[in-house]
Amino acid sequence: MIKKASDKSDKVGAVLVVGAGVGGMQASLDLAESGYKVYLVEKGPSIGGVMAQLDKTFPTNDCAMCTLAPRMVDCGGHLNIEKLTYSEIESIEGRAGNFKVSIRKKARSVDPDKCTGCGECVTQCLVKNIVYLEPPDVPKVELEADEQTKIDEIISRYEGGRESLVPILQAITNEFNWLPQKLLMRVSEVKEIPIEHILRIATFYKAFSLEPRGEHIVTVCMGTACHVKGAPRILERFERELGVKTGQTTSDMKFTLEAVRCIGCCGLSPVITIGEDLYGKLTPAEAAKILDKYRD
Ligand code: FES
Repeated sequence: MIKKASDKSDKVGAVLVVGAGVGGMQASLDLAESGYKVYLVEKGPSIGGVMAQLDKTFPTNDCAMCTLAPRMVDCGGHLNIEKLTYSEIESIEGRAGNFKVSIRKKARSVDPDKCTGCGECVTQCLVKNIVYLEPPDVPKVELEADEQTKIDEIISRYEGGRESLVPILQAITNEFNWLPQKLLMRVSEVKEIPIEHILRIATFYKAFSLEPRGEHIVTVCMGTACHVKGAPRILERFERELGVKTGQTTSDMKFTLEAVRCIGCCGLSPVITIGEDLYGKLTPAEAAKILDKYRD
């Protein structure tokens, strides 16, 4: 750590900032501009934080990148800011104004001095690029006659291979309300798509379920606008009314309770949907009353 020549106390002229999100970067820039040496520690592999993953910011709808990018550039090039990314604090000794910090820097498996940011290592990553091997002996899927007719009719509606997978999964969901595994096996068999790939797609989208779901899907929007207008209280009320937790189905298979992020009707917040029906501007009591309409 560097001592300021003019400082008679034992305080040192270096500062540690933890977290390189937009707040951490701005603090580092302000301190660096005031003449301090800044050590900016970030546990992620790059500076930017959560804001780097956002498109717009609430409630002004400002472009997140337009706010973030200038700070990232300034921080990246500032000679007074030493960026310690992919690093974590192990211990702190001393007292306010004069302390020593041990930082563990994680291995990147990339030489940062040679990296040009070409992204080739991502495309060649052996961890992400799973190699598909043909299963040696896949047993033939045994289906009931009516299941067989229905699934074969659904599959025959869509031409092509992997590109037809999502519409097929949607059609199965519309027909059965969930994705029974043996039907997915049949899709895999007919379309020659590895079952691992089908399961990856089926678990990626919230609209698909590998568990049986209730006759009515009750969805509470927990996006920012709905959240501030009381959506958590509606969700709690539904959990009490139905006797299930979010994500679960009632024992009579009547209702499945789910929470989603913004469904695009923020002007009506708080918003719920039951099946295809949408209801807005609700109190928890009104929401519970609506539920009664679907009980019989
Ligand atoms: S936040 Fe609920 S509809 Fe947008």
